[in-house]
Amino acid sequence: MMIFLYFLLIIVIIALIITINSFISFIWLRVPFVTTPKWVIEKFVDKIDLKNNSIVYDLGCGDAKVLFALEKKFPNLKLIGYELAWWPYVVAKLKIKLKKSKIKILHQNFYKANFSDADIIFCYLIDTVMPKLESQLKIQLKPGAKVFSYGFKFPNWQPAEIIPNPLKPKGSKINFYQK
Ligand SMILES: C[S@@+](CC[C@H](N)C(=O)[O-])C[C@H]1O[C@@H](n2cnc3c(N)ncnc32)[C@H](O)[C@@H]1O
Repeated sequence: MMIFLYFLLIIVIIALIITINSFISFIWLRVPFVTTPKWVIEKFVDKIDLKNNSIVYDLGCGDAKVLFALEKKFPNLKLIGYELAWWPYVVAKLKIKLKKSKIKILHQNFYKANFSDADIIFCYLIDTVMPKLESQLKIQLKPGAKVFSYGFKFPNWQPAEIIPNPLKPKGSKINFYQK
């Protein structure tokens, strides 16, 4: 009985830590941690054409599931994720250790980064941050660099393509941009 109670207590503490962490991250960043849908990852991985040594960034990578899907298909890419919320960052780091992956995850604010070497950027953020990110990427990205933004558009940049969910054509879409 005592063991069961201890076990229950540990579960409750973990759930509390996750909830408090998600709440603090949301207040701080204004972007909640919401996992990228499976169809988006499949379409993204399917759609991108890459050279062996291409550099791909995921801005707000969560637990890095998008980067892991890429690494599975293209093992030689340079894959870098930025994530400021502690919980998904720690989970991503643990997954990297367990899978002996070469993905690099930075616990840093992507607004302070430089993406001039990026070939591809993936992001799933929120509408309120898109104007600031658009200004940053328009300055930093090299010609030909590609951006895939799930769910949210840049306010002044025309997407080269809008990719709908094949099962829910009216749902959120992937916006594809090319510099
Ligand atoms: C909608 S979630 C995307 C999760 C991820 N694509 C996945 O499938 O797991 C957005 C993430 O962006 C992170 N984020 C928001 N602003 C950030 C910033 N300025 N620098 C780094 N990470 C940021 C949030 O902490 C959140 O986890």
